[in-house]
Amino acid sequence: MTSMPLSRTEINLGIPSAHRMRRLRRSAGLRRMVRETQLSPSDFIYPVFVTSGRGIREPIPSMPGQARLSVDQLAQEAAELRSLDIPAILLFGLPESKDAIGTGAWIADGVVQQAVHALKQAEPELVVVTDVCLCEYTDHGHCGVLDDDGAIINDASVELLAQTSLSQAEAGADVIAPSDMMDGRVGVIRQTLDAAGFSDRALLSYAAKFASAFYGPFRDAADSAPQFGDRRGYQMDPPNGREAMRAIARDLDEGADMIMVKPALAYLDLVREARDRFDAPLAAYNVSGEYAMLKAAAANGWIDEERVVLETLTGIRRAGADTILTYHAKDAARWLARQAG
Ligand code: PBG
Repeated sequence: MTSMPLSRTEINLGIPSAHRMRRLRRSAGLRRMVRETQLSPSDFIYPVFVTSGRGIREPIPSMPGQARLSVDQLAQEAAELRSLDIPAILLFGLPESKDAIGTGAWIADGVVQQAVHALKQAEPELVVVTDVCLCEYTDHGHCGVLDDDGAIINDASVELLAQTSLSQAEAGADVIAPSDMMDGRVGVIRQTLDAAGFSDRALLSYAAKFASAFYGPFRDAADSAPQFGDRRGYQMDPPNGREAMRAIARDLDEGADMIMVKPALAYLDLVREARDRFDAPLAAYNVSGEYAMLKAAAANGWIDEERVVLETLTGIRRAGADTILTYHAKDAARWLARQAG
């Protein structure tokens, strides 16, 4: 080891002492002391795809590390989430069969309804969030019902979404999360739940949900790609930030308890703006395409997965999200526990 040729005082470039910000970066302890944003497993909601059948753990090719699980696998999943200190799970369903009106979404023994029962039996403390949408259950793959010309009928769709929400609440869901993007669904779902005695169940509205290409891997996983057309007639146009704020204000007005910006990474400006403007708990959805990109780069050895994932999730928190829906949840919780230990 050669020592530095210069003494500490030999050179003085006149840098103002108050500008020496590196003083607080000198050690891990100092950095920890002044850290502004904390990431913790309690920030995560873990999304799971539930499929009909038994004994199924079918890997999803475009989402490495994620699998379609049958209902009997969920107790094990719930125990794992508890051991990792992750408070909540989000359920998507792959029904046994599909039809034009998405019957599988609201029947009492639908795959998600069965999943909620199983989870509540296995781990009553785990918060069960159910996604409300028809696209996984319709044979045409759209998020609502269609008229003869293939156009979405808004209010008839809302009626079915409210019926879906009610069946999920009856099964025991704690939080109902409509992701369909029909107008007025939050208000109608709230009224439907209240009228049936479920005024205690919370609504997490996918309020600012954009028509994004980042949902590609999800649609493989949930087999929910539209068979014709696209979702631009109901999901939001990606360039529109002011409209996102209007949609959030509207959904809060209709009775949403929590709001969401989705996707997360290309929309962090809107996460920040929503945080500054609204006091309701704010969720950001780190969607399937965001997950797949990091997994692909990591699998190629191009990035350090642990560091990039934790940096990404921390960035979403720093932008202002209270809660992050993320497929990285279990890995991130493991890494955070190891770092803390
Ligand atoms: C259902 C729904 C989608 C996602 C969440 N709920 C797909 C879509 O709108 O096409 C996407 C989640 C993800 O990409 O991880 N409408």
